[in-house]
Amino acid sequence: MAAATALLNLKKDFPLLVNEPTLVYLDSASTALKPRAVIEAVEEYYTNYSANVHRGLYDLSERATAAYEGAREKVRTFIHAGSSREIIFTSGTTASINLVALSWGRSMLKRDDEIILSILDHHSNIVPWQLLAKDIGCKLKFIDCDSKGRLKLDQLSKLLSRRTKLIALSHVSNALGTINQLTTLTQKAHAIGAKVLIDAAQSVPHMPLNVEHLNCDFLAFSGHKLGGPTGIGVLYAKEELLKQMPPVFGGGDMIREVHTDHSSWNDLPWKFEAGTPPIAQAIGLGAAIDYYAKIGMSKVRAHEHALTEYALKKLAELPGLTIYGPADAAEQSGVISFTLEGVHPHDISSLLNEEKIAIRAGHHCCMPLMDRLKIPATARVSFGVYNSTEDIDRLIEGLKKVQKIFKV
Ligand SMILES: Cc1ncc(COP(=O)(O)O)c(C=O)c1O
Repeated sequence: MAAATALLNLKKDFPLLVNEPTLVYLDSASTALKPRAVIEAVEEYYTNYSANVHRGLYDLSERATAAYEGAREKVRTFIHAGSSREIIFTSGTTASINLVALSWGRSMLKRDDEIILSILDHHSNIVPWQLLAKDIGCKLKFIDCDSKGRLKLDQLSKLLSRRTKLIALSHVSNALGTINQLTTLTQKAHAIGAKVLIDAAQSVPHMPLNVEHLNCDFLAFSGHKLGGPTGIGVLYAKEELLKQMPPVFGGGDMIREVHTDHSSWNDLPWKFEAGTPPIAQAIGLGAAIDYYAKIGMSKVRAHEHALTEYALKKLAELPGLTIYGPADAAEQSGVISFTLEGVHPHDISSLLNEEKIAIRAGHHCCMPLMDRLKIPATARVSFGVYNSTEDIDRLIEGLKKVQKIFKV
């Protein structure tokens, strides 16, 4: 069976799973578990060279700077960006998108300009644009999805206008797992001079990704969903755009010169990194990238595809279970959202917790999508490289127990 050959066996690399062998962790879309190599890289920095970067003219600081900038280079290679000047370290996807809204949005957009988002998007890719719209009077439009959570991309020709300046949307839906096809959309946006921002929080950790092939103008992701530390994220942007964009935060490191009446800015990418950056976090992210690059992102995708296929088949056998999303492993990443008739998703999650199975329940920071689907919440399982078919078997047994308790 194709599924079996694609499966990896990596639980041993994750200390949390080694220490908690009975835990079934199915919430990687929320945050991924950390491989030992990441924990060790962070410990090594704090133990042996925890100096500040870019400042000290002594060995420790030079070592810290080399590791911090080395992590940037690893990110560049991982997402196939042309230059490390295009890689800005932020605190996460949310901060990256806000940075684009506050810098590019405020300086380039005007009243009545239009931004196209999608109904699948995470609040992080909706609220920053709402704040911008309130600030400057630009307008937001949404691409709808069908009942299977697939974007209605045919709506694009109606939504696009000469006022469209940006299409910002998620590569993979964190709530439903839908993988959005972006090539045509990007071509259409560029044909009318609009920019494209991709929220890649749920794609960078789960599949091969190449920003040059995607030809996106901006791309955001979070380190913690890739097994890196919390508090580190990435904004990729084309260099020509970053050059035009004003900084958002002022302070140390982002300046070239400061006078009492004016200042000038540092080169890229540091123009956008004011203050002491998240050094340990960046180094940890670099270690996470090494870990995933060594496995190979095609293998990561194949593993999660096989698990998704297996889980979709098993879940479909449970009576009263409705899957939201494509329900086709080829069209979705390792995220499956569902409801069980007669049981609130929060109850599903709480009862599974008693079986040591961790899943997420709620609106998944996608309230507009929940409104569109006319449901308050779903239960969501999401896979990582450390999951196995045994984890899914435990989930199915757990769900059967939930159904027994609720007599459904
Ligand atoms: C699609 C998507 N976008 C944005 C975010 C926000 O990421 P963070 O909280 O790491 O900034 C998430 C987190 O779940 C997400 O799944």
